[in-house]
Amino acid sequence: MRAPRIRPLSGDLTSALGAGGPRIDVLALPLQSGDEGPQPGLGTSEALSVLGIDLAQVMALDSPSTQAGDCTRVAWSPSGHLVDRVLLVGVGDGSPAAVRTAAAALARGQRGRDRLVTTLGSRAATALAEGLVLGSYSPPRSGLGAAPPPPLKRVDVVGGVDAADLARGVAAAEATVLARDLAITPSSTKGPAWLAGRARRAAAEVGLRYHVRDQRDLAAEGFGGLLAVGAGASRPPRLVELEYAPAAAGVHVVLVGKGITFDTGGISLKPRDAMVAMKTDMSGAAVVIATLRACALLGVRARVTGLLPLAENAIGASSYRPGDVITQYGGTTVEVRNTDAEGRLVLADALAYADARLDPDILVDVATLTGAASQALGRGHAALFTDDDPLALALTEAGLASGEPLWRLPLAQDYRDALASDHADLCHIATVPGVGAGAITAALFLQEFVGRRRWAHLDIAGPARSEREHDVTNKGGTGFGARLLLSWLQTLP
Ligand code: BES
Ligand code: MN
Ligand code: ZN
Repeated sequence: MRAPRIRPLSGDLTSALGAGGPRIDVLALPLQSGDEGPQPGLGTSEALSVLGIDLAQVMALDSPSTQAGDCTRVAWSPSGHLVDRVLLVGVGDGSPAAVRTAAAALARGQRGRDRLVTTLGSRAATALAEGLVLGSYSPPRSGLGAAPPPPLKRVDVVGGVDAADLARGVAAAEATVLARDLAITPSSTKGPAWLAGRARRAAAEVGLRYHVRDQRDLAAEGFGGLLAVGAGASRPPRLVELEYAPAAAGVHVVLVGKGITFDTGGISLKPRDAMVAMKTDMSGAAVVIATLRACALLGVRARVTGLLPLAENAIGASSYRPGDVITQYGGTTVEVRNTDAEGRLVLADALAYADARLDPDILVDVATLTGAASQALGRGHAALFTDDDPLALALTEAGLASGEPLWRLPLAQDYRDALASDHADLCHIATVPGVGAGAITAALFLQEFVGRRRWAHLDIAGPARSEREHDVTNKGGTGFGARLLLSWLQTLP
């Protein structure tokens, strides 16, 4: 078990704290910020009075913080109660975002314990469940060294929460967890076929349609970008298609995820430090697998197809080279200048295929595409590109709601000329010196392949990884994007 079992507890706090029930290792009570200082959240005053704890005295002695995630243990020696320890948990303004943060801190701090009872998030049950599951996450590790204590075993939520709201939070957070696990897996294990197998497994678990193209299929159908990028590796590329097709869907969304299982840069080799994190260069594909799986669990109304171009950008005798001209799916020719700008080549094939064959109402790609996006926005925000204002608004709102924020950058057509090539229809990187705007020129390249579709591009190069454990995020692959996409997809007809 990697996450606590979270259930609503029927009945009120007084009965939960009364004799007869199983022991409560931790009772976590919310403390909210207010104009006149800290305010007890729902159930806090009641619980303290049942236990015979004087709130005013606690305030004076312990001065508990209301900042989301700060936990203050109440100085209290229990006598005759079933409660081992009482925590006041800061929930800030009590918003879902603050509750999510608080729940993650709580789950992290209470590892190793059996049973936690809380009234936290009784008005933000989905956020509570998300925070508890995400805060319980620890990356899988191998070897003989000490493992972290196991997560909390069970959490009982008092205060009339809906089991369905908790379940939605658990499903969304488990999508993040799946994306994290895939991103963290070392590339010695994780080649294109391996990742295709994980997609197949996820599909089988929830009843998605699964289809995979191997190298021969790709050659027969003209996926020249994916074949070129994967040519240098001993493990050949794949294109996976996943489909969630509920009856009577109002719209069809196609999600494309960059799936580079390791990015050496190819012949345009990366410097050694820049290469270290590149096992996570398939984060977009991981997010799409996890999102499709959760769509089925959550009963999303829209039809959703996932496309995963999977390849290893290796360096070898058969690697593609700077100066090569490749033919993308659909016939557009591209002059390669830098084999490290591989992501856009595999995405271009998938986008062109989606446009030509899948008739999507909306096309969204997710990719760890450019260091430039990470430079511009850091680790907190992904870059959003689209010419569709309503789509931008909907995705931005989903980002805020899920705690995975986006920041929109322009598809500045002024820079489009920089992709001109003397030898092919276009070049995949800017050939005009001094243009800059590396995230934008990459997005402009992708735009060439989406036809007239409603389309958005999410460059998650920054937030796909984290260097520190904080809020709901662990160190390493973060799974950024799955909860954002799920939040958006759940609004569609
Ligand atoms: N996977 C990288 C982008 C990346 C960089 C992701 C840092 C996460 C952290 C991508 O394939 C890449 O190498 N992009 C190049 C493009 C350049 C050669 C035009 C980059 O950003 O340097
Ligand atoms: Mn690269
Ligand atoms: Zn890459």
